[in-house]
Amino acid sequence: MLFLVSIVSLLFSHALLSPTPDDPLFKHIDDHQHEYIQRLKDWVAIESDSSDPSKRDQVLHMMQVTKDYILQIGGTVEMAELGEQEYSSGKKLPLPPVILAEFGNDTNKPTVCFYGHMDVQPAKKADGWKTDPYVLEEKDGNLYGRGTSDDKGQILALLHAVESAKKFGLPVNVKLFIEGMEEVGSNGLEQLVEDKKDTFFSNVDYIVVTDTPWLSTKPGITYGARGNCYFFIEVEGARRDLHSGGFGGTVYEAMSDLVYLLGVLADVNGKILIPGIYDDVLPLNEQEKDLYKDLVFDLKDLKRDTGVNTFLHNTKEELLMHRWRFPSLSIHGIEGAFSGSGTKTVIPAKVIGKFSIRQVPNMNPSVVEKQVSDYLESKFAERKSPNKMKVSMVIGAQPWLANMSEPQYLAAQKAVKRVFNVDADMIRAGGTIPIAKNFEDVLGKGVMLLGVGGPDDAPHGQNEKISVYNYIEGTKLYASFLKELPSF
Ligand SMILES: *[C@@H]1O[C@H](CO)[C@@H](O)[C@H](O)[C@H]1NC(C)=O
Ligand SMILES: *[C@@H]1O[C@H](CO)[C@@H](O)[C@H](O)[C@H]1NC(C)=O
Ligand SMILES: [Zn+2]
Repeated sequence: MLFLVSIVSLLFSHALLSPTPDDPLFKHIDDHQHEYIQRLKDWVAIESDSSDPSKRDQVLHMMQVTKDYILQIGGTVEMAELGEQEYSSGKKLPLPPVILAEFGNDTNKPTVCFYGHMDVQPAKKADGWKTDPYVLEEKDGNLYGRGTSDDKGQILALLHAVESAKKFGLPVNVKLFIEGMEEVGSNGLEQLVEDKKDTFFSNVDYIVVTDTPWLSTKPGITYGARGNCYFFIEVEGARRDLHSGGFGGTVYEAMSDLVYLLGVLADVNGKILIPGIYDDVLPLNEQEKDLYKDLVFDLKDLKRDTGVNTFLHNTKEELLMHRWRFPSLSIHGIEGAFSGSGTKTVIPAKVIGKFSIRQVPNMNPSVVEKQVSDYLESKFAERKSPNKMKVSMVIGAQPWLANMSEPQYLAAQKAVKRVFNVDADMIRAGGTIPIAKNFEDVLGKGVMLLGVGGPDDAPHGQNEKISVYNYIEGTKLYASFLKELPSF
């Protein structure tokens, strides 16, 4: 999964949704659902865990199986080799090639390129799975197994949609860009996108990422993500750690300075106290406010899921806005501090405080970096400590916000309406989605996240699943999307 937000919010019963309309394309998909589930079972059985060097051959095998299926349903495939991955031990492993596939190249039709991945997170029965993670099990309308939701199930829903839509005449050109190293950071992918800019991607009009969950059981389309500026504050006092019995009361302590600095970053209500930090935040307008009204999201579920009784915001709208479209500051840890159990009486010589700011459009990481440094330096100067203090920004990932008036969004909204007879939830990710920003920056094309994962699929956790409903109706969603796209 591209981001780790998974909040349980199950209130929209499937029964509330109208059945899909009579349509030969939908009937074709319904008639083949057992075959689709069997294929997912076969693919889940391939342990394509990209983090485990001993399973690299399984990842390579998975890419090959995917390629074979694309060829079988009439696509053309190029395997882009990425070379080798070198471990610090000196050991080398082949990187799985990236699948560049194409269905149709009619210059009179729009071309949509879908991105997804075939590698999975690690999974062992001993981690607390109720079933063998690599043996797909169907239970109570859900399909359990590693990769069922993230991302094999979503990619298969797409492939089955392409295969079905082809039977009725594919109204768009479809390209696929499928990798095998997503779960460990997409090694080599950014360079490949750059390298293929003027070839594979040159005729692509729209990019759709198929690796994302809905907010509820109501279909959601993701149009934005927050960025992340991650900071270290390093405070250094003595040359070595000291003992509080021998030195307590005699030295300016690095830890006290750091705790003070971490303490002035935000107030108790989460308001960031750094001057100017909110200046560039895109103002909220009525049109955007309206998008939040019909979102299906229940604070009670969130409370139950997290065990948090009192959140910073009391309404669904405020809470989601603060998760998606306002910046936030979180303190993550202190390196060099005593953190074990018991009562060590050390005065740490040097400590590094870690915090990050989730930033939003139109904040700029380099401006944020300066605001943070200036503020912390002035606060430290006020304190008049003789210790050394240094602020550095170690990650500066940009936020992403799409233009929802673009054709791919209109087509996706129409497809949701057609398959589910509801208006799509227009949602954002609170976390960062580097690939979206990367596609947009390098290719200059609009990006949309249209996934079919459920809100409680546990993509990186134990007992990962996708519901049969999401899997099969999601196939119809992708097929309808392909049908709608040329009309905008
Ligand atoms: C278009 O597709 C056809 C059939 O797959 C192929 O023969 C032809 O070479 C392709 N043309 C281009 C420009 O890729
Ligand atoms: C958003 O997309 C629409 C449709 O393509 C276009 O007319 C509009 O100018 C775009 N808006 C921005 C701010 O780029
Ligand atoms: Zn994923």
